[in-house]
Amino acid sequence: MCGIVGYVGKQKVLPILINGLKRMEYRGYDSAGVAVIAKNKLWVKKRKGKIRDLEMDLNEEGISSTIGLGHTRWATHGAPSQLNAHPHVDCQKKIAVVHNGIIENYVQLKSRLQSEGHHFNSETDSEILAHLIEMFYKGDMGFAIREALQLIEGTFGVLVISTHEPEKIFGARRGSPMVVGIGEGETLIASDGAALVEHTRNVIHLEDDEMAIADAQGIQVKTLQDKKVIKAVEKISYDLSRIQKGGYDHFMLKEIFEQPETIHDSMRGRLLLEAGNAKLGGLEGCLDRLRHSYRLIITACGTSWHAGLIGEYLIEKLAQIPVEVEYASEFRYRNPVITRVDTVLAITQSGETADTLAAVREARQKGALALGMCNVVGSTIARETDAGVYLHAGPEIGVASTKAFTSQVITLALIALVLGRMGTLSSEDGQTLSQELSLLPEKIRSILKQKDLIKSIAEKIIPHQNALYLGRGFNYPVALEGALKMKEISYIHAEGYPAAEMKHGPIALIDENMPVIFIAVKDPVYDKVVNNIEEVKARGGWVIAIVSEGDEEISRLCDHTIPIPHTLQPLSPILTVIPLQLLAYYTAVMKGCNVDQPRNLAKSVTVE
Ligand code: M6R
Repeated sequence: MCGIVGYVGKQKVLPILINGLKRMEYRGYDSAGVAVIAKNKLWVKKRKGKIRDLEMDLNEEGISSTIGLGHTRWATHGAPSQLNAHPHVDCQKKIAVVHNGIIENYVQLKSRLQSEGHHFNSETDSEILAHLIEMFYKGDMGFAIREALQLIEGTFGVLVISTHEPEKIFGARRGSPMVVGIGEGETLIASDGAALVEHTRNVIHLEDDEMAIADAQGIQVKTLQDKKVIKAVEKISYDLSRIQKGGYDHFMLKEIFEQPETIHDSMRGRLLLEAGNAKLGGLEGCLDRLRHSYRLIITACGTSWHAGLIGEYLIEKLAQIPVEVEYASEFRYRNPVITRVDTVLAITQSGETADTLAAVREARQKGALALGMCNVVGSTIARETDAGVYLHAGPEIGVASTKAFTSQVITLALIALVLGRMGTLSSEDGQTLSQELSLLPEKIRSILKQKDLIKSIAEKIIPHQNALYLGRGFNYPVALEGALKMKEISYIHAEGYPAAEMKHGPIALIDENMPVIFIAVKDPVYDKVVNNIEEVKARGGWVIAIVSEGDEEISRLCDHTIPIPHTLQPLSPILTVIPLQLLAYYTAVMKGCNVDQPRNLAKSVTVE
């Protein structure tokens, strides 16, 4: 949940740390800090608030150093405050530590350290690391860090610098991502490649229980048992422009507007129009096993879980394989019945979500085929699954997931198409579907042109405290996703329901103060949804509907309509979600909310 970055080399370290932290601010943004070694002394600055606040403080200091580390925090233990911000230091102020993760046995370790005379300054679990390393230090920092980390129960991505060995930076991980950037005469270590890409594209990914020891000349990787490890150097493939705002007010808006290109990228080289089929290289070796699985269990969290629900509809309809969709956070704790003839597909933008990772491990341990669908190349889940498929949507920085969702649905449609064609889906039906998939980028462009209409409707939502989102069939998960977008960035309480469920309870909420957002496109459940709209109107409700272009009849019934182009029913979520993303975005912006960094949230949830 936090972002950590370290640098050792020949350049001034503070601007590099601040820039790296800004690139990772999506990971946490309640407090931040840096530590550097200058004139063989540790110098630490930290504060509550955003990285730009820290940066302003630093500008006044004029410290010069070429080695240091930084941290942007998403609080778990202890409120956001200057004292709880990282880096944390030992009693003698010779060791500085930044940590991402949770130390589950910190209470026991803290009381042991206190009984041995260590003094603590914060309420965090992380601070114990600095004191443990201090306790174990007998002239070898690598040894002290290894000994300290062996005692930890829980997860860590950790960076350490020390005046004991002032030219070195140490980084280790267990359960939290860590990537090392190898430049010329400089090395960076961070939670995310976005913090490194301005300096180098050559990276190595640390595995759990590995430690990197870096100086300006290069790095050495060892296990926490002190065994040397030879690592392959990989290349970061995306450009810097993909992690900048490119003229948009917010990353979220940029990412919404990128969707014609990002879904195209997700299909590039995979869609076989003439054959009415798709080719997914990453799954090729296991397609037979997948096709003949007893069932497919999709597991995910948040927006990715909503995509999974659409995947269930798609795969059952096109491929006739039974699919179940599970919250990853529930899956891991209910000891699910999984056998060797099941396949588990983990869907995750970041590839680092702790609950989803735990579900993957549970599935593998029980002998199921574990597949991953990730956006972040080289992420932990991408590496821990038996096989998988990347989204190729490019870095998603806005905390509210948008382009990852549409790419997830596209990729699920491709999987359904491949599996369908291995079974009973005819080549004609495959061709119809693939033709329609290829037309979606242009259709999204035409929806994006309606941003002013959507903005004018959003303006009317602002005074409201609640909203209801209703859809049926393939668009029921879209109702859930529309509601999630609205609540997470505008703080308006929004609920998604299958439209027919309204009469079983939520209908009691309907009055003129309740905006009800329907997805009512022309599809096989259209008439049923129209009936539900009538029921809302009969009770004085205020209806906004996503409708099919040219549907005049429904326009007369609703207070506001947002027309979208027609597509095949199984693909309609890729279009119907776009106006809902924009509706949430404009509502939040006009309410003055920070859409890219909503309160209490972080982009990648690497804690339970
Ligand atoms: O990286 P993941 O896809 O595994 O993340 C899962 C959720 O944390 C994520 O989708 C979250 O719900 C987003 N903030 C939604 O916009």
